[in-house]
Amino acid sequence: MRFLTVPPVVLHLFLLLFLASPATACTKQEKRNLLQFLAGLSQDGGLAASWRDNGTDCCEWEGVVCNGDGAVAEVSLGSKGLEGRISPSLADLTSLLHVNLSYNSFSGGLPPELMFSGSIIVLDVSFSRLNGPLPELPYLVTTDRPLQVLNISSNQFSSEFPSATWKVMKNLIALNASNNSFTGHIPSSLCIGLPSLALLDLCYNQLSGDIPNTLGNCSKLKVLKAGNNHISGILPVEIFHATSLEYLSFPNNGGLQGELDGAHIVKLNNLLTLDLGGNSFSGTIPESIGQLRRLEELHLGSNNMSGELPSTMSNCTNLKTIDLKINNFSGNLGKQFDCTAAVNQPFPRVVGASASCLLAKTS
Ligand SMILES: *[C@@H]1O[C@H](CO)[C@@H](O)[C@H](O)[C@H]1NC(C)=O
Ligand SMILES: *[C@@H]1O[C@H](CO)[C@@H](O)[C@H](O)[C@H]1NC(C)=O
Ligand SMILES: *[C@@H]1O[C@H](CO)[C@@H](O)[C@H](O)[C@H]1NC(C)=O
Ligand SMILES: *[C@@H]1O[C@H](CO)[C@@H](O)[C@H](O)[C@H]1NC(C)=O
Ligand SMILES: *[C@@H]1O[C@H](CO)[C@@H](O)[C@H](O)[C@H]1NC(C)=O
Ligand SMILES: *[C@@H]1O[C@H](CO)[C@@H](O)[C@H](O)[C@H]1NC(C)=O
Ligand SMILES: *[C@@H]1O[C@H](CO)[C@@H](O)[C@H](O)[C@H]1NC(C)=O
Ligand SMILES: *[C@@H]1O[C@H](CO)[C@@H](O)[C@H](O)[C@H]1NC(C)=O
Ligand SMILES: *[C@@H]1O[C@H](CO)[C@@H](O)[C@H](O)[C@H]1NC(C)=O
Repeated sequence: MRFLTVPPVVLHLFLLLFLASPATACTKQEKRNLLQFLAGLSQDGGLAASWRDNGTDCCEWEGVVCNGDGAVAEVSLGSKGLEGRISPSLADLTSLLHVNLSYNSFSGGLPPELMFSGSIIVLDVSFSRLNGPLPELPYLVTTDRPLQVLNISSNQFSSEFPSATWKVMKNLIALNASNNSFTGHIPSSLCIGLPSLALLDLCYNQLSGDIPNTLGNCSKLKVLKAGNNHISGILPVEIFHATSLEYLSFPNNGGLQGELDGAHIVKLNNLLTLDLGGNSFSGTIPESIGQLRRLEELHLGSNNMSGELPSTMSNCTNLKTIDLKINNFSGNLGKQFDCTAAVNQPFPRVVGASASCLLAKTS
Protein backbone atom coordinates (compact mmCIF):
# COMPACT_ATOMS: atom_id res chain seq x y z
CA MET A 1 0.00 0.00 0.00
CA ARG A 2 2.02 2.92 -1.34
CA PHE A 3 -0.57 5.35 0.01
CA LEU A 4 0.47 4.68 3.57
CA THR A 5 4.01 5.82 2.83
CA VAL A 6 2.86 9.42 2.30
CA PRO A 7 4.15 11.41 5.29
CA PRO A 8 1.36 12.42 7.71
CA VAL A 9 2.22 16.09 7.31
CA VAL A 10 1.31 15.91 3.59
CA LEU A 11 -1.94 14.13 4.45
CA HIS A 12 -2.73 16.91 6.85
CA LEU A 13 -2.05 19.44 4.15
CA PHE A 14 -4.46 17.66 1.80
CA LEU A 15 -7.05 17.48 4.51
CA LEU A 16 -6.64 21.18 5.25
CA LEU A 17 -6.98 22.10 1.57
CA PHE A 18 -10.02 19.89 1.25
CA LEU A 19 -11.67 21.39 4.30
CA ALA A 20 -10.72 24.92 3.31
CA SER A 21 -12.01 24.77 -0.25
CA PRO A 22 -15.76 24.88 0.41
CA ALA A 23 -15.26 28.04 2.45
CA THR A 24 -13.59 29.82 -0.49
CA ALA A 25 -16.53 29.25 -2.81
CA CYS A 26 -19.39 31.71 -2.90
CA THR A 27 -22.74 30.69 -1.48
CA LYS A 28 -25.85 29.66 -3.40
CA GLN A 29 -27.53 32.81 -2.18
CA GLU A 30 -24.73 34.97 -3.59
CA LYS A 31 -25.00 33.18 -6.93
CA ARG A 32 -28.72 33.84 -6.94
CA ASN A 33 -28.12 37.54 -6.26
CA LEU A 34 -25.61 37.80 -9.10
CA LEU A 35 -27.84 35.90 -11.51
CA GLN A 36 -30.71 38.20 -10.58
CA PHE A 37 -28.52 41.15 -11.58
CA LEU A 38 -27.75 39.37 -14.86
CA ALA A 39 -31.46 38.75 -15.45
CA GLY A 40 -32.15 42.48 -15.15
CA LEU A 41 -29.92 43.19 -18.14
CA SER A 42 -31.26 43.33 -21.69
CA GLN A 43 -27.73 43.17 -23.09
CA ASP A 44 -25.14 41.36 -20.98
CA GLY A 45 -22.07 41.90 -23.14
CA GLY A 46 -21.28 38.18 -23.09
CA LEU A 47 -21.37 37.94 -19.31
CA ALA A 48 -23.75 34.98 -19.37
CA ALA A 49 -21.01 32.77 -20.80
CA SER A 50 -19.12 33.06 -17.54
CA TRP A 51 -21.97 33.71 -15.11
CA ARG A 52 -23.48 30.22 -15.27
CA ASP A 53 -25.18 28.30 -12.53
CA ASN A 54 -23.56 25.00 -13.50
CA GLY A 55 -21.60 24.20 -10.37
CA THR A 56 -18.82 26.73 -10.91
CA ASP A 57 -17.73 28.95 -8.05
CA CYS A 58 -19.08 32.45 -8.69
CA CYS A 59 -15.78 33.78 -7.33
CA GLU A 60 -14.44 32.72 -10.74
CA TRP A 61 -17.06 34.57 -12.71
CA GLU A 62 -15.99 37.47 -14.88
CA GLY A 63 -15.75 40.72 -12.93
CA VAL A 64 -16.41 39.06 -9.57
CA VAL A 65 -13.79 39.12 -6.85
CA CYS A 66 -14.21 37.33 -3.53
CA ASN A 67 -12.55 37.93 -0.20
CA GLY A 68 -10.55 35.33 1.73
CA ASP A 69 -13.74 33.81 3.07
CA GLY A 70 -15.11 33.24 -0.40
CA ALA A 71 -17.73 35.94 -0.15
CA VAL A 72 -18.27 38.33 -3.05
CA ALA A 73 -16.38 41.53 -2.24
CA GLU A 74 -16.14 43.23 -5.61
CA VAL A 75 -18.19 43.49 -8.78
CA SER A 76 -16.21 45.24 -11.54
CA LEU A 77 -18.10 45.42 -14.78
CA GLY A 78 -16.86 48.67 -16.31
CA SER A 79 -17.05 48.99 -20.10
CA LYS A 80 -18.80 45.64 -20.58
CA GLY A 81 -21.49 46.94 -22.92
CA LEU A 82 -24.20 46.23 -20.37
CA GLU A 83 -27.73 47.48 -21.06
CA GLY A 84 -30.95 47.29 -19.11
CA ARG A 85 -31.59 47.92 -15.45
CA ILE A 86 -29.30 47.73 -12.47
CA SER A 87 -30.94 45.18 -10.22
CA PRO A 88 -31.03 46.03 -6.51
CA SER A 89 -30.13 42.37 -5.85
CA LEU A 90 -26.44 43.36 -5.87
CA ALA A 91 -27.08 45.06 -2.56
CA ASP A 92 -28.03 41.69 -1.05
CA LEU A 93 -24.39 40.60 -1.32
CA THR A 94 -23.56 41.30 2.28
CA SER A 95 -19.76 41.40 1.90
CA LEU A 96 -19.76 43.57 -1.21
CA LEU A 97 -17.33 46.50 -0.86
CA HIS A 98 -16.57 47.71 -4.39
CA VAL A 99 -19.03 48.14 -7.25
CA ASN A 100 -17.83 49.49 -10.57
CA LEU A 101 -20.44 49.67 -13.31
CA SER A 102 -18.96 52.65 -15.15
CA TYR A 103 -19.04 53.07 -18.94
CA ASN A 104 -22.16 51.01 -19.64
CA SER A 105 -25.51 51.92 -21.16
CA PHE A 106 -28.08 51.23 -18.49
CA SER A 107 -31.56 52.62 -18.42
CA GLY A 108 -33.50 53.66 -15.37
CA GLY A 109 -32.08 54.92 -12.13
CA LEU A 110 -29.66 53.98 -9.41
CA PRO A 111 -31.38 51.63 -6.92
CA PRO A 112 -31.46 53.17 -3.43
CA GLU A 113 -30.45 49.75 -2.08
CA LEU A 114 -27.01 50.25 -3.64
CA MET A 115 -26.55 53.82 -2.54
CA PHE A 116 -27.62 53.10 1.01
CA SER A 117 -26.02 49.67 1.25
CA GLY A 118 -24.67 48.57 4.59
CA SER A 119 -21.42 47.30 3.08
CA ILE A 120 -20.47 49.11 -0.14
CA ILE A 121 -17.62 51.61 0.25
CA VAL A 122 -16.94 52.41 -3.43
CA LEU A 123 -19.78 52.88 -5.92
CA ASP A 124 -18.81 53.99 -9.41
CA VAL A 125 -21.64 54.23 -11.93
CA SER A 126 -20.15 57.08 -13.96
CA PHE A 127 -20.70 57.31 -17.73
CA SER A 128 -23.54 54.79 -17.58
CA ARG A 129 -26.61 56.63 -18.90
CA LEU A 130 -28.53 56.42 -15.66
CA ASN A 131 -31.38 58.87 -15.27
CA GLY A 132 -34.11 60.04 -12.94
CA PRO A 133 -33.57 61.58 -9.55
CA LEU A 134 -30.86 60.44 -7.18
CA PRO A 135 -32.53 58.35 -4.46
CA GLU A 136 -33.60 60.34 -1.43
CA LEU A 137 -32.88 59.00 2.03
CA PRO A 138 -35.25 56.10 2.74
CA TYR A 139 -37.17 56.43 6.01
CA LEU A 140 -35.75 53.20 7.35
CA VAL A 141 -32.14 54.24 6.98
CA THR A 142 -31.06 56.15 10.04
CA THR A 143 -27.51 54.99 10.77
CA ASP A 144 -24.30 55.97 8.96
CA ARG A 145 -23.53 54.18 5.74
CA PRO A 146 -19.98 52.97 4.94
CA LEU A 147 -19.93 54.62 1.48
CA GLN A 148 -16.65 56.49 0.90
CA VAL A 149 -16.58 57.07 -2.85
CA LEU A 150 -19.65 57.86 -4.94
CA ASN A 151 -19.11 58.58 -8.60
CA ILE A 152 -22.38 59.30 -10.37
CA SER A 153 -20.81 61.72 -12.84
CA SER A 154 -21.60 61.88 -16.56
CA ASN A 155 -25.06 60.37 -16.40
CA GLN A 156 -28.46 61.92 -17.02
CA PHE A 157 -29.58 62.32 -13.44
CA SER A 158 -32.07 65.12 -13.05
CA SER A 159 -34.37 66.70 -10.47
CA GLU A 160 -33.28 68.43 -7.36
CA PHE A 161 -29.88 67.56 -5.96
CA PRO A 162 -30.82 65.72 -2.75
CA SER A 163 -30.06 67.17 0.63
CA ALA A 164 -31.30 64.65 3.21
CA THR A 165 -29.35 61.80 1.60
CA TRP A 166 -26.02 63.06 2.97
CA LYS A 167 -27.14 62.85 6.59
CA VAL A 168 -26.12 59.19 6.73
CA MET A 169 -22.95 59.54 4.64
CA LYS A 170 -20.46 60.57 7.31
CA ASN A 171 -17.80 58.38 5.70
CA LEU A 172 -18.02 59.94 2.25
CA ILE A 173 -14.64 61.14 0.98
CA ALA A 174 -15.32 61.71 -2.71
CA LEU A 175 -18.55 62.75 -4.38
CA ASN A 176 -18.48 63.37 -8.11
CA ALA A 177 -21.90 64.35 -9.42
CA SER A 178 -20.62 66.42 -12.34
CA ASN A 179 -22.07 66.41 -15.85
CA ASN A 180 -25.70 65.59 -15.02
CA SER A 181 -28.82 67.74 -14.98
CA PHE A 182 -29.29 68.30 -11.28
CA THR A 183 -31.31 71.34 -10.34
CA GLY A 184 -31.84 73.17 -7.07
CA HIS A 185 -29.22 74.53 -4.70
CA ILE A 186 -25.99 73.20 -3.28
CA PRO A 187 -27.50 71.81 -0.06
CA SER A 188 -26.42 73.76 2.99
CA SER A 189 -26.41 70.53 4.99
CA LEU A 190 -23.68 69.05 2.79
CA CYS A 191 -20.62 69.87 4.87
CA ILE A 192 -22.43 69.45 8.14
CA GLY A 193 -23.24 65.87 7.20
CA LEU A 194 -19.97 65.02 5.47
CA PRO A 195 -17.02 65.72 7.76
CA SER A 196 -14.58 63.57 5.75
CA LEU A 197 -15.37 65.01 2.33
CA ALA A 198 -12.20 65.75 0.36
CA LEU A 199 -13.58 65.91 -3.18
CA LEU A 200 -16.82 67.53 -4.29
CA ASP A 201 -17.44 67.96 -8.00
CA LEU A 202 -20.78 69.46 -9.04
CA CYS A 203 -19.67 70.93 -12.39
CA TYR A 204 -21.88 70.93 -15.46
CA ASN A 205 -25.32 70.79 -13.85
CA GLN A 206 -28.24 73.21 -13.58
CA LEU A 207 -27.64 74.21 -9.98
CA SER A 208 -28.66 77.70 -8.94
CA GLY A 209 -28.85 79.81 -5.81
CA ASP A 210 -26.07 80.89 -3.48
CA ILE A 211 -22.96 79.06 -2.33
CA PRO A 212 -23.92 77.95 1.19
CA ASN A 213 -21.60 79.34 3.85
CA THR A 214 -21.55 75.90 5.48
CA LEU A 215 -19.16 74.70 2.74
CA GLY A 216 -16.48 76.18 4.97
CA ASN A 217 -17.22 73.41 7.48
CA CYS A 218 -15.71 70.84 5.11
CA SER A 219 -12.31 71.12 6.75
CA LYS A 220 -10.83 68.25 4.75
CA LEU A 221 -12.06 69.54 1.39
CA LYS A 222 -9.28 69.64 -1.18
CA VAL A 223 -11.24 69.78 -4.42
CA LEU A 224 -14.31 71.95 -4.78
CA LYS A 225 -15.62 72.30 -8.30
CA ALA A 226 -18.99 73.72 -9.22
CA GLY A 227 -18.34 75.41 -12.54
CA ASN A 228 -20.83 75.62 -15.40
CA ASN A 229 -23.95 75.97 -13.28
CA HIS A 230 -26.13 79.00 -12.58
CA ILE A 231 -24.84 79.72 -9.10
CA SER A 232 -24.98 83.36 -8.05
CA GLY A 233 -24.15 85.58 -5.11
CA ILE A 234 -20.77 86.01 -3.47
CA LEU A 235 -18.03 83.68 -2.24
CA PRO A 236 -19.06 83.47 1.42
CA VAL A 237 -16.20 84.32 3.80
CA GLU A 238 -16.70 80.96 5.51
CA ILE A 239 -15.42 79.19 2.41
CA PHE A 240 -11.97 80.54 3.29
CA HIS A 241 -12.08 78.42 6.44
CA ALA A 242 -11.70 75.32 4.27
CA THR A 243 -7.94 75.73 4.37
CA SER A 244 -7.16 72.33 2.86
CA LEU A 245 -8.54 73.53 -0.48
CA GLU A 246 -6.26 72.91 -3.44
CA TYR A 247 -8.83 73.45 -6.18
CA LEU A 248 -11.38 76.18 -5.83
CA SER A 249 -13.25 76.29 -9.05
CA PHE A 250 -16.52 78.06 -9.88
CA PRO A 251 -16.07 79.12 -13.52
CA ASN A 252 -18.84 80.02 -15.94
CA ASN A 253 -21.63 80.53 -13.48
CA GLY A 254 -22.04 84.06 -14.80
CA GLY A 255 -23.60 85.51 -11.72
CA LEU A 256 -20.95 85.13 -9.03
CA GLN A 257 -19.87 88.57 -7.90
CA GLY A 258 -18.07 90.58 -5.28
CA GLU A 259 -14.39 91.31 -4.77
CA LEU A 260 -11.52 89.01 -3.92
CA ASP A 261 -10.69 89.90 -0.35
CA GLY A 262 -6.94 89.83 0.19
CA ALA A 263 -7.19 89.03 3.89
CA HIS A 264 -9.38 86.02 3.14
CA ILE A 265 -7.71 84.58 0.07
CA VAL A 266 -4.35 84.14 1.88
CA LYS A 267 -5.93 81.63 4.23
CA LEU A 268 -6.14 79.20 1.33
CA ASN A 269 -2.39 78.76 1.16
CA ASN A 270 -2.67 75.26 -0.25
CA LEU A 271 -4.37 76.46 -3.42
CA LEU A 272 -3.07 75.06 -6.67
CA THR A 273 -5.91 76.26 -8.87
CA LEU A 274 -8.17 79.25 -8.43
CA ASP A 275 -10.73 79.37 -11.21
CA LEU A 276 -13.38 82.05 -11.04
CA GLY A 277 -13.48 82.92 -14.74
CA GLY A 278 -16.71 83.68 -16.56
CA ASN A 279 -18.47 85.45 -13.70
CA SER A 280 -19.11 89.00 -12.54
CA PHE A 281 -16.34 89.50 -10.04
CA SER A 282 -15.11 93.05 -9.69
CA GLY A 283 -12.31 94.82 -7.90
CA THR A 284 -8.58 94.17 -8.12
CA ILE A 285 -6.30 91.21 -7.65
CA PRO A 286 -5.20 91.57 -4.02
CA GLU A 287 -1.50 91.93 -3.26
CA SER A 288 -1.68 89.04 -0.85
CA ILE A 289 -2.06 86.66 -3.80
CA GLY A 290 1.74 86.58 -3.70
CA GLN A 291 1.50 84.50 -0.56
CA LEU A 292 -0.20 81.65 -2.39
CA ARG A 293 3.12 80.01 -3.07
CA ARG A 294 1.72 76.76 -4.44
CA LEU A 295 -0.57 78.44 -6.97
CA GLU A 296 -0.21 76.94 -10.45
CA GLU A 297 -3.30 78.22 -12.23
CA LEU A 298 -5.11 81.49 -11.88
CA HIS A 299 -8.21 81.94 -14.03
CA LEU A 300 -10.02 85.22 -13.62
CA GLY A 301 -10.87 85.81 -17.29
CA SER A 302 -14.23 87.22 -18.37
CA ASN A 303 -15.12 89.10 -15.23
CA ASN A 304 -15.38 92.77 -14.40
CA MET A 305 -12.09 93.14 -12.61
CA SER A 306 -9.76 96.06 -12.89
CA GLY A 307 -6.56 97.60 -11.62
CA GLU A 308 -2.96 96.53 -12.00
CA LEU A 309 -1.51 93.13 -11.52
CA PRO A 310 0.24 93.33 -8.13
CA SER A 311 4.02 92.96 -8.21
CA THR A 312 3.81 90.43 -5.39
CA MET A 313 2.47 87.98 -7.92
CA SER A 314 6.03 87.26 -8.99
CA ASN A 315 6.29 85.41 -5.67
CA CYS A 316 3.91 82.77 -7.04
CA THR A 317 6.81 80.90 -8.52
CA ASN A 318 4.76 77.86 -9.48
CA LEU A 319 2.29 79.73 -11.68
CA LYS A 320 1.90 78.07 -15.03
CA THR A 321 -1.33 79.50 -16.34
CA ILE A 322 -2.66 82.99 -15.86
CA ASP A 323 -5.90 83.87 -17.56
CA LEU A 324 -7.04 87.44 -17.02
CA LYS A 325 -8.53 88.17 -20.42
CA ILE A 326 -11.74 90.11 -20.94
CA ASN A 327 -11.61 92.30 -17.86
CA ASN A 328 -10.75 95.91 -17.36
CA PHE A 329 -7.24 95.55 -16.06
CA SER A 330 -5.10 98.58 -16.64
CA GLY A 331 -1.56 99.76 -16.27
CA ASN A 332 1.56 98.14 -17.52
CA LEU A 333 0.81 94.46 -17.20
CA GLY A 334 3.62 93.67 -19.60
CA LYS A 335 6.14 94.68 -16.95
CA GLN A 336 4.98 91.81 -14.81
CA PHE A 337 4.26 89.16 -17.38
CA ASP A 338 5.74 89.72 -20.78
CA CYS A 339 3.29 87.57 -22.62
CA THR A 340 3.72 89.05 -26.06
CA ALA A 341 7.30 87.88 -26.06
CA ALA A 342 6.51 84.67 -24.24
CA VAL A 343 8.43 82.46 -26.63
CA ASN A 344 11.79 84.20 -26.43
CA GLN A 345 11.52 85.94 -23.16
CA PRO A 346 9.03 84.24 -20.92
CA PHE A 347 8.39 85.80 -17.60
CA PRO A 348 11.05 84.05 -15.51
CA ARG A 349 8.61 82.93 -12.87
CA VAL A 350 6.23 81.34 -15.31
CA VAL A 351 7.81 77.93 -15.29
CA GLY A 352 7.13 74.84 -17.30
CA ALA A 353 6.96 74.29 -21.02
CA SER A 354 3.19 74.55 -21.05
CA ALA A 355 3.17 77.93 -19.37
CA SER A 356 0.51 80.08 -20.90
CA CYS A 357 -0.41 83.62 -20.31
CA LEU A 358 -3.67 85.15 -21.39
CA LEU A 359 -3.81 88.80 -20.56
CA ALA A 360 -5.48 90.26 -23.63
CA LYS A 361 -7.40 93.35 -22.73
CA THR A 362 -10.66 94.20 -24.35
CA SER A 363 -11.00 97.72 -23.07
C1 LIG B 1 -19.67 25.69 -16.54
O1 LIG B 1 -19.64 26.68 -17.57
C2 LIG B 1 -18.34 27.15 -17.87
C3 LIG B 1 -18.47 28.28 -18.85
O2 LIG B 1 -19.26 27.92 -19.96
C4 LIG B 1 -17.47 26.03 -18.39
O3 LIG B 1 -16.16 26.53 -18.67
C5 LIG B 1 -17.40 24.96 -17.32
O4 LIG B 1 -16.70 23.86 -17.83
C6 LIG B 1 -18.79 24.49 -16.90
N1 LIG B 1 -18.64 23.66 -15.72
C7 LIG B 1 -19.37 22.56 -15.52
C8 LIG B 1 -19.11 21.82 -14.25
O5 LIG B 1 -20.21 22.21 -16.31
C1 LIG C 1 -13.94 51.81 -12.50
O1 LIG C 1 -13.44 51.27 -13.69
C2 LIG C 1 -12.93 52.22 -14.62
C3 LIG C 1 -12.46 51.46 -15.85
O2 LIG C 1 -13.50 50.70 -16.39
C4 LIG C 1 -11.78 52.98 -13.99
O3 LIG C 1 -11.35 53.98 -14.87
C5 LIG C 1 -12.25 53.61 -12.70
O4 LIG C 1 -11.16 54.22 -12.05
C6 LIG C 1 -12.85 52.56 -11.77
N1 LIG C 1 -13.42 53.23 -10.60
C7 LIG C 1 -12.92 53.13 -9.37
C8 LIG C 1 -13.65 53.85 -8.30
O5 LIG C 1 -11.93 52.48 -9.12
C1 LIG D 1 -15.05 58.06 -10.30
O1 LIG D 1 -14.60 58.87 -9.23
C2 LIG D 1 -13.70 58.22 -8.35
C3 LIG D 1 -13.38 59.19 -7.23
O2 LIG D 1 -12.91 60.40 -7.70
C4 LIG D 1 -12.45 57.82 -9.14
O3 LIG D 1 -11.59 57.09 -8.30
C5 LIG D 1 -12.85 56.95 -10.33
O4 LIG D 1 -11.71 56.69 -11.10
C6 LIG D 1 -13.86 57.67 -11.18
N1 LIG D 1 -14.32 56.79 -12.26
C7 LIG D 1 -14.04 57.00 -13.53
C8 LIG D 1 -14.59 56.03 -14.52
O5 LIG D 1 -13.35 57.94 -13.90
C1 LIG E 1 -15.57 63.91 -12.12
O1 LIG E 1 -15.92 63.10 -13.21
C2 LIG E 1 -15.69 63.65 -14.49
C3 LIG E 1 -16.12 62.66 -15.52
O2 LIG E 1 -17.47 62.37 -15.37
C4 LIG E 1 -14.21 63.97 -14.63
O3 LIG E 1 -13.97 64.60 -15.87
C5 LIG E 1 -13.79 64.89 -13.50
O4 LIG E 1 -12.40 65.12 -13.57
C6 LIG E 1 -14.10 64.26 -12.16
N1 LIG E 1 -13.80 65.22 -11.11
C7 LIG E 1 -12.79 65.10 -10.26
C8 LIG E 1 -12.59 66.22 -9.31
O5 LIG E 1 -12.06 64.12 -10.25
C1 LIG F 1 -20.60 64.22 -20.04
O1 LIG F 1 -21.36 63.03 -20.14
C2 LIG F 1 -21.52 62.55 -21.45
C3 LIG F 1 -22.38 61.31 -21.37
O2 LIG F 1 -23.54 61.56 -20.64
C4 LIG F 1 -20.16 62.23 -22.05
O3 LIG F 1 -20.32 61.81 -23.38
C5 LIG F 1 -19.28 63.45 -22.00
O4 LIG F 1 -17.99 63.12 -22.42
C6 LIG F 1 -19.21 63.96 -20.56
N1 LIG F 1 -18.45 65.18 -20.51
C7 LIG F 1 -17.44 65.35 -19.65
C8 LIG F 1 -16.81 66.72 -19.68
O5 LIG F 1 -17.03 64.49 -18.89
C1 LIG G 1 -19.41 75.48 10.88
O1 LIG G 1 -18.37 76.46 10.85
C2 LIG G 1 -18.67 77.65 11.60
C3 LIG G 1 -17.53 78.59 11.41
O2 LIG G 1 -17.42 78.90 10.05
C4 LIG G 1 -18.85 77.28 13.04
O3 LIG G 1 -19.21 78.43 13.77
C5 LIG G 1 -19.96 76.24 13.17
O4 LIG G 1 -20.06 75.83 14.50
C6 LIG G 1 -19.67 75.04 12.29
N1 LIG G 1 -20.81 74.14 12.33
C7 LIG G 1 -20.69 72.84 12.54
C8 LIG G 1 -21.94 72.07 12.59
O5 LIG G 1 -19.60 72.31 12.66
C1 LIG H 1 -18.02 96.57 -13.13
O1 LIG H 1 -17.23 97.13 -12.09
C2 LIG H 1 -17.40 98.52 -11.90
C3 LIG H 1 -16.46 98.96 -10.80
O2 LIG H 1 -15.16 98.54 -11.09
C4 LIG H 1 -18.85 98.80 -11.52
O3 LIG H 1 -19.05 100.18 -11.42
C5 LIG H 1 -19.78 98.21 -12.58
O4 LIG H 1 -21.11 98.34 -12.16
C6 LIG H 1 -19.47 96.76 -12.81
N1 LIG H 1 -20.26 96.26 -13.91
C7 LIG H 1 -20.95 95.09 -13.82
C8 LIG H 1 -21.68 94.71 -15.07
O5 LIG H 1 -20.95 94.39 -12.84
C1 LIG I 1 6.87 89.12 -2.53
O1 LIG I 1 7.56 89.98 -3.38
C2 LIG I 1 7.71 91.31 -2.96
C3 LIG I 1 8.41 92.08 -4.03
O2 LIG I 1 7.71 91.98 -5.23
C4 LIG I 1 8.42 91.36 -1.64
O3 LIG I 1 8.56 92.68 -1.17
C5 LIG I 1 7.68 90.52 -0.64
O4 LIG I 1 8.35 90.48 0.59
C6 LIG I 1 7.49 89.11 -1.18
N1 LIG I 1 6.77 88.25 -0.26
C7 LIG I 1 5.46 88.20 -0.08
C8 LIG I 1 4.98 87.16 0.90
O5 LIG I 1 4.66 88.92 -0.65
C1 LIG J 1 -12.34 100.47 -16.93
O1 LIG J 1 -11.52 101.12 -15.98
C2 LIG J 1 -11.36 102.50 -16.20
C3 LIG J 1 -10.42 103.02 -15.13
O2 LIG J 1 -9.21 102.36 -15.22
C4 LIG J 1 -12.70 103.19 -16.12
O3 LIG J 1 -12.56 104.55 -16.43
C5 LIG J 1 -13.66 102.53 -17.10
O4 LIG J 1 -14.97 103.08 -16.92
C6 LIG J 1 -13.73 101.04 -16.89
N1 LIG J 1 -14.54 100.42 -17.91
C7 LIG J 1 -15.52 99.56 -17.63
C8 LIG J 1 -16.23 98.98 -18.83
O5 LIG J 1 -15.83 99.24 -16.49
